[in-house]
Amino acid sequence: MSVTMETLVSLCKRRGFVFQSSEIYGGTGSCWDYGPLGVELKNNIKRVWWRDFVQQRADMVGLDASILMHATVWKASGHVDHFTDPMVDCRECRRRFRADKVDEQPWVHYCPATKGNKFTIPAGEPCGHCGARRTLCPECGKGELTPPRQFNLMFRTFMGPVEEDAAVTYLRPETAQGIFVNFDNVLQSMRRKLPFGIAQIGKAFRNEITPGNFIFRTREFEQMEIEYFVNPNDTVAGRPADEYWHERWIEDCVGWFKRYGLREENLRLREHDKDELAHYAKRTADVEYRFPIGWSELMGIANRTDFDLKQHAQFSGKTLTYFDEDRKAHVVPYVIEPSAGADRALLAFLADAYREEEVRGEKRVVLRLHPELAPVSVAVLPLLKKRDDIVETAQKIRDELAKRWIAVYDDTAAIGRLYRRQDEVGTPYCVTVDVQTVGDRDKGEAGDGKVTIRDRDSMDQARVPIGELVPVVGELLAGGEWTKIAARFPAVKVS
Ligand code: GAP
Repeated sequence: MSVTMETLVSLCKRRGFVFQSSEIYGGTGSCWDYGPLGVELKNNIKRVWWRDFVQQRADMVGLDASILMHATVWKASGHVDHFTDPMVDCRECRRRFRADKVDEQPWVHYCPATKGNKFTIPAGEPCGHCGARRTLCPECGKGELTPPRQFNLMFRTFMGPVEEDAAVTYLRPETAQGIFVNFDNVLQSMRRKLPFGIAQIGKAFRNEITPGNFIFRTREFEQMEIEYFVNPNDTVAGRPADEYWHERWIEDCVGWFKRYGLREENLRLREHDKDELAHYAKRTADVEYRFPIGWSELMGIANRTDFDLKQHAQFSGKTLTYFDEDRKAHVVPYVIEPSAGADRALLAFLADAYREEEVRGEKRVVLRLHPELAPVSVAVLPLLKKRDDIVETAQKIRDELAKRWIAVYDDTAAIGRLYRRQDEVGTPYCVTVDVQTVGDRDKGEAGDGKVTIRDRDSMDQARVPIGELVPVVGELLAGGEWTKIAARFPAVKVS
């Protein structure tokens, strides 16, 4: 079963993943706030991406450039002149649409063949009664649309206290340019040899004409970008180095998304046609994901050639080249750019993890998130919240686990419901402290010092001594197989 966007939006709000920005004022519809669980999930995505693509690779370094940059950066990059979408306005209701997307939405039609009855007709289809196609505003069905005009997607602002033309700058619409303008700084300070890459994670802003579909298209979002510099004169495995590395990055990126949970059947590659390619790109492949809204771009991997470095060299008057020791010549590197959106990645991981299952006649909602991404790694639950010794032991265990992982304590419901709540937010393991753990002082019974650990996916449980909990949870979160690890301990029969 594939999950709908409404279900995800509702889960995200109810369980504290994502809230509408400024909701108490009616919301913005184009920006979203990450709640307590959402921020952990997003941080985990970014942390794992950074670890895998930057820290674990010998050919990568990181960067954190400022969001506000010199205005000329955006002239050189082409954004001032070309970062536009064609926009049309309804003369009646004043709504705005992207001219190239206006036929991708259902349209309202007052049909003359049915005495002007109002119909909502599926995107791109003609009216079933009169055969007319959409010409008017798709939302109000009455107003004519203006001819398209180009609308620049960058947010303009002013640097400094005087609002004059000379002070105009922009919120960055991509993190990439912060990397290009620092190419020489990194090259000199880090003494890198080609090929090498610079990665950056950060906010980007685009004044999208029609933002929407939850966090899929927003006006403020986060990118995880890499600019990988290669020597265009080199060959690798019999191919030009840029083409070889482009292919490698496509494989690595798709492999990364699969490793952290996206199913193969929900991922595909889409090559940009020649007429769709950006003017600087030699080849671009999008990794598309089957989102609840259909197949859409999750990330792009472009071969940007030497365009950006040459542009910035020309506009800044600085040399942005690499000295090729073997050929004793300066060269402008080519750039392979894997560029992913952190928000879209989060949406894809959530959509792929979402399952509705039937357990003993009841519906169970579970997020089968990869343990490294799950917003809570382990939840510690007391079986009886009225027993101080149980509560105290559970809280102590949580504090110990929280030194290493994201661990929570929850005693706000009965155990069955607590398990369901943790399933619904993707917590891979729950630890329960019960009477057997602590014993019964009044009856003079000593506890066994063991707790029950429960696996989210199989719902199987095992009894583990408290002293072994940290290594066991550590093994499990490091990717250890539940069945193998649990087999070392007595199983708990689940009724
Ligand atoms: N530097 C290249 C670049 O920015 P892009 O295809 O425009 O390329 C890269 O953006 C990624 O950023 C997209 O694949 C998407 O994941 C994310 N992205 C772009 N615009 C977005 C928006 N308005 N809202 C959310 N994510 C967005």
